[in-house]
Amino acid sequence: MAEIRIRNTEERIKGEENVRAFLEGQEVLYEHWDPSKLSEELQNKFVLSDEEKAEILKTYEDDINDLAARRGYKTWDIISLSDATPNLDELLKKFENVHTHTEDEVRAITAGRGIFIIKGTDDVGYFDVELEAGDVISVPEHKAHFFTLMENRQIVAVRLFIETEGWIAHPFADATFSK
Ligand SMILES: [Fe+2]
Repeated sequence: MAEIRIRNTEERIKGEENVRAFLEGQEVLYEHWDPSKLSEELQNKFVLSDEEKAEILKTYEDDINDLAARRGYKTWDIISLSDATPNLDELLKKFENVHTHTEDEVRAITAGRGIFIIKGTDDVGYFDVELEAGDVISVPEHKAHFFTLMENRQIVAVRLFIETEGWIAHPFADATFSK
């Protein structure tokens, strides 16, 4: 289950209802898929063949189709990151810059963990959403954010998109952000 950390105050928000209510107030979609649908092997595997990626998409087919129908996503794929990923450190450095997109950024975590750092309303400031398998999040278009891994440095997620042009990251220069 996702947890929130508000960076200015170190306050943590836990529990599904609290997390959902907080994220709703920040216009961030948060949903939950059943992570136990996936075979135990794939819940713990971070280097995936094309067949294994297809199996993950097949396992969550109903959830994906439901979300896509409600929100207009047209394509989806699987992303996996771990220490086995070539140039992981370089990739993370690239990720760890605050940016925006013209479409929302959707991730459904199927294995491992990850964090979205999101610029909230003025009274909240930046907050972290710590995600684990089963967590589904959509950061709205034009909302400043970035993504990184947690200590275990491994994640598998389904990404859903409306248009390929919407994927492009636009840097967001923000003097108020400090890591
Ligand atoms: Fe992004």
